[in-house]
Amino acid sequence: MNHIMANIKSRRSRRVFFDKAIPDGIIEEIIEAGRYAPSALNKQPWKFIVITNKDVIKRLSGIVKEKTLKITRVLPILKLFKAALRDPQIIGAMKKTLSTDDDTVFYKVPLLILIASDKGRNPFASKDCALASQNMMLYAHSLSISSCFIGRADFLMMSKAAKDIIGLPPRHTIQAAIVFGYSPEGDGPQSTPERRRDNIISWVR
Ligand SMILES: Cc1cc2nc3c(=O)[nH]c(=O)nc-3n(C[C@H](O)[C@H](O)[C@H](O)COP(=O)(O)O)c2cc1C
Repeated sequence: MNHIMANIKSRRSRRVFFDKAIPDGIIEEIIEAGRYAPSALNKQPWKFIVITNKDVIKRLSGIVKEKTLKITRVLPILKLFKAALRDPQIIGAMKKTLSTDDDTVFYKVPLLILIASDKGRNPFASKDCALASQNMMLYAHSLSISSCFIGRADFLMMSKAAKDIIGLPPRHTIQAAIVFGYSPEGDGPQSTPERRRDNIISWVR
């Protein structure tokens, strides 16, 4: 198998990490992989916020939990307006976040990288940042560093409290959050969540 395909296929999201720091030089390389992602009009709207301070990660996790709790309280009303909140899997994941005092958001990682977009209205910023995220996760995986994209962190997107904690100017939007670390499960090819094959391709020849 081509080595890029092998890297793509063997990456897994990991949620348990050793308490072991990733060297700064390696973190910079991971960001380098993100910097080389494509971006609409080559605007490269990203800012990478590298967080290795455990207390800060815990506080950000607390903000996500607080917002999750607020949303679950008014769920019946919000469901009327937001289709996503009618998805039982999404609701289940939100409730799981609240079910324990453990860090069910960022999983006690040694490294959290937030990607924020730096300019007011760029309709493609979230896509650009998502592409940078995948570059970073794949590169990290090639170094046997595990990762997980944290969609739950979307609750930080417009949070002033979160921006204050990480020193991000108000006009910036947090677009992506990825945790990285060395995982006891390793980062090799293990059980792969099922990949759909049927009804996902239509050819127009
Ligand atoms: C947009 C997005 C949001 C995600 N959000 C979370 C999350 O909040 N917490 C989490 O543990 N995993 C999250 N994941 C990881 C997925 O659960 C994971 O990618 C999926 O189960 C497939 O597993 P794999 O990454 O090992 O192939 C997210 C993935 C994506 C792409």
